[in-house]
Amino acid sequence: MPKPIYVLNGPNLNLLGTREPHIYGSETLGEVETRVRGRAGALGHEVVFRQTNHEGELIDWVQQARVSAAALIINPAGYGHTSVALHDALKAVEVPIVEVHLSNPARREDFRRRSFVSNVAQGVIAGLGAQGYELAVEAAARLAAEGEA
Ligand code: DQA
Repeated sequence: MPKPIYVLNGPNLNLLGTREPHIYGSETLGEVETRVRGRAGALGHEVVFRQTNHEGELIDWVQQARVSAAALIINPAGYGHTSVALHDALKAVEVPIVEVHLSNPARREDFRRRSFVSNVAQGVIAGLGAQGYELAVEAAARLAAEGEA
C-alpha cells in the first residue's frame, strides 16, 4: 500500500453546506470526504482527511505530510491569501502539492487574487465545486506515481 494522500482543509470549511451555498455549494465537508475516499480508494490510495480553523495546526499537518504523505492536496481557504508561514511550510514539502478551491478566487474580490500557495503547488483546481477535490485526487495520485514534486 502506498503512503496516504493527505487532504488538508483550512478555516471555515467545517461550515460547508450551510456557509454561502451559492458560492461553495450545498455539500457538507463530510460528503466531500466521502467523494475523496471513493476516488482515492479506486486508485489504491488511503486518505488522511482533516480540517482546522487554526493556522498553526494546519502548518503542523503540512509538516507531517512532508514525511508521511505520497502527495498533499490542500484547500487553504482564507489562509491561502494571508499566510507566509503556510507558504514556507509548503515550500519545505517535497511530495506533490495540489491546491484546490471550491470557488474560483480569480472571479471574486481582489483580495482573493493573492495566493501564498499557488506558487508552491504543482497545480491548482478552482471553481469546480466539490468535484474539484476528486480531480485533485486524480492529479495527486498521478503526480505521486510519476515521482514529481
Ligand atoms: C475557498 C476560497 C477562499 O477565497 C475562501 O477564503 C475560502 C474557500 C474555496 O474553496 O473556494 O474559505 O478556498
